Amino acid sequence: MQAKILITGATRGIGFAAAQALADRGARVIIASRDAQRAQLAAEKIGDAASAIALDLTGEHSVTTATDHIALTHGHIDVLINNSAILLDHYESLLDLSIETLLETFNTNVAGTLRVTQAILPLLRKAHSPRIINVSSSAGQLDGEAQAWAPAYSISKTALNMLTQQLTAALPDMIINSMCPGWCRTEMGGNDAPRSPEQGADTITWLALDAPDSLKGKFIKDRSVIPW
Ligand SMILES: NC(=O)c1ccc[n+]([C@@H]2O[C@H](COP(=O)([O-])OP(=O)(O)OC[C@H]3O[C@@H](n4cnc5c(N)ncnc54)[C@H](OP(=O)(O)O)[C@@H]3O)[C@@H](O)[C@H]2O)c1
Repeated sequence: MQAKILITGATRGIGFAAAQALADRGARVIIASRDAQRAQLAAEKIGDAASAIALDLTGEHSVTTATDHIALTHGHIDVLINNSAILLDHYESLLDLSIETLLETFNTNVAGTLRVTQAILPLLRKAHSPRIINVSSSAGQLDGEAQAWAPAYSISKTALNMLTQQLTAALPDMIINSMCPGWCRTEMGGNDAPRSPEQGADTITWLALDAPDSLKGKFIKDRSVIPW
């Protein structure tokens, strides 16, 4: 059966690469973007297996409208890929970080992810074996040396990982994981990154279609479990 997969932030970068790879594997992908026209163009690039939806994680009305539309047109969702994120504070010091930047980052990367997940849950519950993939980052890892890079973004990704743990506890029948794509050449990652968006998307595709049902509540990179 053709898996129905919703991917947020999928008009470019890792999200688009994941959408393309999943469509190539026979999935039906729904490309979400804040901008309906951008989403439509991205879906057209992929072809018949893709459709588009306007969705802004930070807006209650936008999320509700998108969910209602997806319910009408697709009926259910097998896999939700929470890929959207913002990085506002690349090289800013935590000591100068404005609370507004921290809250804006959290509003998209953490609260926005939860908002979409809560809204899509009824559609996931109609699936045979629903999966949620939260695209996180090793920037949020608590393991290893303390790092000063992008404090608001990093703190938000640590919170996203805890959101994954909390969702796993709240939804024991669903397969929910966080993953890190590695440093990739995208608008967020810049041109110097060693990985292509396609390489970054590989573990997303694997988690969506191939990973065993027993792999849940974990943080994954390159198809392997890594420490939180
Ligand atoms: N690139 C890297 O090196 C790297 C490394 C580790 C983790 N990651 C993670 O991988 C994911 C994808 O990153 P990327 O590098 O592909 O980033 P990107 O090119 O900047 O894409 C981010 C996407 O997020 C979407 N977005 C932002 N705010 C949104 C909102 N309010 N509502 C809905 N969508 C929103 C944007 O979609 P629209 O503008 O179309 O709405 C955009 O397509 C992110 O979660 C990122 O944190 C990336």
